[in-house]
Amino acid sequence: MNPAPIAVALDAPNLETAARWATLVTPHVSTVKVGLELYLRYGPDVVASVRGASGVQVFLDLKLHDIPATVAGAAHAVAHLKPAYLTVHAGGGPAMIRAAVEAAPQTKIAAVTVLTSLSDDDLTGLGLAGPASDAVRRLSALAVEAGAHALVCSPMEAAAVRAEVGPDVTLITPGVRPRGSAAQDQARVATPEEALAAGADLLVIGRPITAAPDPGAAAAGIAAALRRTSAARS
Ligand code: C5P
Repeated sequence: MNPAPIAVALDAPNLETAARWATLVTPHVSTVKVGLELYLRYGPDVVASVRGASGVQVFLDLKLHDIPATVAGAAHAVAHLKPAYLTVHAGGGPAMIRAAVEAAPQTKIAAVTVLTSLSDDDLTGLGLAGPASDAVRRLSALAVEAGAHALVCSPMEAAAVRAEVGPDVTLITPGVRPRGSAAQDQARVATPEEALAAGADLLVIGRPITAAPDPGAAAAGIAAALRRTSAARS
């Protein structure tokens, strides 16, 4: 059975917990995501720890944002870890995005458009006039033009982004909550089925899986629900 297109966010307090969650979920999902907190605390060893023997894809969510030469150096520094995905902020501009793409040729560079934590008012304050959805579309087009292979956006924006960039770009969506689970600090959420229907290719899901009494069972349950939906659709 193919693993489900889910990246489990391993936002764990320590390496042992992250590795345990990874072991439990990897039979069911394609990808595990390592964020800044874990990477800054434990360094590059964290990638081997969560990958384990399973060979699951690792999504390195470092959200790089600096001048092109510095981002090239940073992407080069992690390229040997062979993450499937590495994030950069699209707001760093086309030269910075291209620098990351060239420095890590075996990794899909995923551009983060607008953080879902920013409201329209925040964006106006930052000098990005217009609704967040316009900024997301502009940044998506710019990032893909600069060579980004993937984009991170909210499930609410996935359909508009897909229309903007076409079928070949991988759309990654956080803010995913299975029906009935708490939204927590995510404001604009969609169910896994809705996110896929909107055009997402890879769903980032953290606490609904990792905070469950049995993370393996929670991952298996969501994976099975996604398979039922795609079987019903085809
Ligand atoms: O636990 P939860 O499912 O909310 O985890 C979502 C993950 O996606 C976290 O690792 C968070 O940092 C990340 N993320 C997000 N919103 C973004 C980008 C990343 O929630 N716009």
